[in-house]
Amino acid sequence: IGSGQVLPEQPDLKIIRREINGFVGFANLPKQWHRKSIRRGFSLNLLCVSQRGLGKSTLINTLFNRNLDDGSKNKVEQKLEGLKIEGSSETEASRDDEEAQTAQESENVRSSVKIKTLSTTIEENGVSLKLSVVDTPGFGDAIDNSDSWRPIVDEVNYRFDQYLDAENKINRSSEDDNRIHACLYFIEPTAHYLKPLDLGFCKQIHEKCNLIPVIAKSDILTEEEIAVFKRRIRKQLEDENVVLFEPPQYALDDQETIHASKSLYEKIPFAVVGSTDKVENSKGSLVRGRSYPWGIIEVDNASHCDFVYLRDLLISQYLEELRERTNSVLYEKYRSEKLTKLGIKQDNAVFKEFDPETKQKEEKQLHEAKLAKLEAEMKSVFHQKVSEKEKKLQKSEAELFARHKEMKEKLNKQLKALEEKKHQLEHSLNTPIPQSPAQPKKKGFLR
Ligand code: GTP
Repeated sequence: IGSGQVLPEQPDLKIIRREINGFVGFANLPKQWHRKSIRRGFSLNLLCVSQRGLGKSTLINTLFNRNLDDGSKNKVEQKLEGLKIEGSSETEASRDDEEAQTAQESENVRSSVKIKTLSTTIEENGVSLKLSVVDTPGFGDAIDNSDSWRPIVDEVNYRFDQYLDAENKINRSSEDDNRIHACLYFIEPTAHYLKPLDLGFCKQIHEKCNLIPVIAKSDILTEEEIAVFKRRIRKQLEDENVVLFEPPQYALDDQETIHASKSLYEKIPFAVVGSTDKVENSKGSLVRGRSYPWGIIEVDNASHCDFVYLRDLLISQYLEELRERTNSVLYEKYRSEKLTKLGIKQDNAVFKEFDPETKQKEEKQLHEAKLAKLEAEMKSVFHQKVSEKEKKLQKSEAELFARHKEMKEKLNKQLKALEEKKHQLEHSLNTPIPQSPAQPKKKGFLR
């Protein structure tokens, strides 16, 4: 299940050593590289996935020997997956807000995984390490956890996309590498089997980042339980074709190095114990560990737990290999799949030689494909807006027409009523007023 390969021995390879006649200077190249590395510093983006309370924060603090969660110095970014609000107008944003709320409510039943990134720079003997720990609170907390992996895989893909976009910019900066270099997956110390949640996650993530599973809080298990549990986990992962990070072996490596890397790989999943507290050991010295009524367990003692092996793999021995595999295998795979989806064909060889012309062509194709996609999207938005406008106009035209008809009918009625009145008046004018009967003449002295 390992990804590392032992390169075949090359019996025909003849190394001809020549003495050089004078000073050339290339023997200094490693020193130049060393100086450059120190100046530039190193970086590690670590994804930590576990169910609640399995000792994730404690282990990270133990690995980097400081409390990473405590510090206004540390930059913390938080986002709720799937709720990236986009929208040009206020109304759109507020509608999205409502949708976001309903989405969040329904996610409580299914998955409510959040992504929390904590970035900090630490220094050891003048060497600086830019560390980003990506935490995933809420993983495995829901009633139905069948898609708990989704927001995490989306985050890894999103980071690949960001890198791909940055690569295609005119001013490229190699500094902004937010890709995940390793994923620490914490397994509950049940001493039984991996749960569907564990297997489901490992199956989804192993092709996206270097997967390093660890058995959390292993101090609660006996040595035999750990050995059996490790074998079962390896078997289950093997059956599901899950690839774990394997320290690479090179043809020029000596036997000792090859043996060390092999035995390191065999110890995966590392049975770890985390603690930054100091306890007194049997020799009277203060060491990092956990104290129990029956004795103490030392974190940095390889005969007590696998913590030191994890530290070797993740930091002191293979940090650069983790970055290298992320770049040349995992990212390359993602990139070529993405380009293929966009309709761009390319050479399948992952380790192909760098050809600037091909690269430029690929970039041009990618750019053109993106432009075409953007144009198609803009066209569809335009058509949609036009048809919406047309519908609105048709509706208001129909309304106006109805109102006009109504008004016309009203006026017609009024006109009719007025004509009726006029007719009545005319009729009454033409009708002669009847004469009143003649009054008898009064006889009187006024006559
Ligand atoms: P959430 O972020 O809340 O999910 O917790 P977490 O996974 O970060 O766990 P945390 O490091 O906060 O540890 C939870 C508890 O487990 C604490 O009481 C720790 O002291 C304890 N703990 C951490 N590591 C170990 C360990 O290796 N063995 C044992 N026995 N306990 C541990």
